[in-house]
Amino acid sequence: MKKYLFIAALLVGGAVQAQDQVELGKSVYMTLCVACHQPTGAGLPPVFPPLTQTEYVSESPERFAAMILKGVMGPMTVKGMIYLSVMPPQEALLNDEKIAAALTYVRGSFGNTYPAVATEVVTATRAKFLDRKVSWTEAELKAWPATGTAAAK
Ligand code: HEC
Repeated sequence: MKKYLFIAALLVGGAVQAQDQVELGKSVYMTLCVACHQPTGAGLPPVFPPLTQTEYVSESPERFAAMILKGVMGPMTVKGMIYLSVMPPQEALLNDEKIAAALTYVRGSFGNTYPAVATEVVTATRAKFLDRKVSWTEAELKAWPATGTAAAK
């Protein structure tokens, strides 16, 4: 009996933790990302791309984290539209917990139903690309393995 109570407590604890992450992510999104990607995640085509079921949101969490850390320089095609802009890097402004929370919020909002991202994923990505000073290009992002790691630096 005790064993079951313990497991139940763990499950409830996990759910509370997940809810906290979504709340934190929402606050990061509504403070920062919202200016460009809008409250609905629909963006402002053709200037800011949407975050609704795009490959960059749904696929590799490592790639998503790397994009937020280092930024992206256009041109970039999203849902058939070319974006000729830049997304600024956030590595100096947001810690790993906040980035993971923002990714989790986006991956679970705007009609998206993709799994949460652990803070450890962001920490590992930050360490891996610590020396990189420039933003990503579309070619680099396209070459990113669907799961696992990138060879390029
Ligand atoms: C200053 C405006 C700006 C801010 C702030 C910003 N982005 Fe972006 N984002 C862009 C632009 C512009 C692109 C397209 C890349 C390009 O044109 O270089 C982009 C691309 C993306 C993409 C890949 C394309 C897509 O639509 O799937 C994702 C994912 C993304 N941003 C998520 C975020 C998240 C999450 C945040 C907040 C942590 C954020 N962005 C903050 C402007 C911004």
